[in-house]
Amino acid sequence: MKAIAFVTQKGGSGKSTLCINLAIAAIESGRSVCILEMDRQATITDWAEHRDTEGPEVAQIDATQLDDVVARLRDFDYDYVFIDTPGVDSPGTLSAIRAADLCVIPCRPTPADLRAFKPTLAAIYRLEKRFAFVLNQTPPRSYRNRDAADGLAVLGVLPDVNIVMRNDHQDAIGVGQGVTEFNPGGQAAREIRQLWTWIEKRAQFNNKQGQAIRNVKVA
Ligand SMILES: Nc1ncnc2c1ncn2[C@@H]1O[C@H](COP(=O)(O)OP(=O)(O)O)[C@@H](O)[C@H]1O
Ligand SMILES: [Mg+2]
Repeated sequence: MKAIAFVTQKGGSGKSTLCINLAIAAIESGRSVCILEMDRQATITDWAEHRDTEGPEVAQIDATQLDDVVARLRDFDYDYVFIDTPGVDSPGTLSAIRAADLCVIPCRPTPADLRAFKPTLAAIYRLEKRFAFVLNQTPPRSYRNRDAADGLAVLGVLPDVNIVMRNDHQDAIGVGQGVTEFNPGGQAAREIRQLWTWIEKRAQFNNKQGQAIRNVKVA
């Protein structure tokens, strides 16, 4: 079992949205996924309540429960546990990073988002965790994307796909689906599938030294 945490203290950058969509893409590719939601806003629990398809399992927990729950999940044979965290730097975020095999840092191509992940990244470095940025809610094409991608690639690893701002993301969540279920042939679905393929490779990478590969761009 691999644990993937979605972290950055900036609210609205897309932690919960990516967590949901990647979980569904993972399930569609034959993996079993459990989502642990550490945010009291309960975006994912609320999404799951609107869902009429089975899975993924979603549990709301707090920071004090995380280590125990992750340890117990190892007995259940899940391929992945996804951990969604609140939009503030909290003990919960730190314990999620500690529990993670891979930290995903969603980031919009805006100065505020590009500044906001710094404390999160410092904690990830300190704990020597593997991580990847994901540029989310980007315009389809813009110099902003290129500038942000160049900046992030210097700091760490960036996938080969950006997640563009698309209505499918908002509409799918409203009806308890992932974008790959809501509009399987759409661009949002295509981007999410490509991102999941990339993230899964990175999550399975066996190098424990996050630091050692910090500056490598994986294509
Ligand atoms: N790629 C995207 N395209 C369009 N809307 C998005 C996208 N990603 C996130 N959103 C929307 O942005 C808002 C914030 O996203 P959310 O995942 O809740 O952020 P966080 O969990 O980081 O606070 C939500 O309304 C969500 O539907
Ligand atoms: Mg959220």
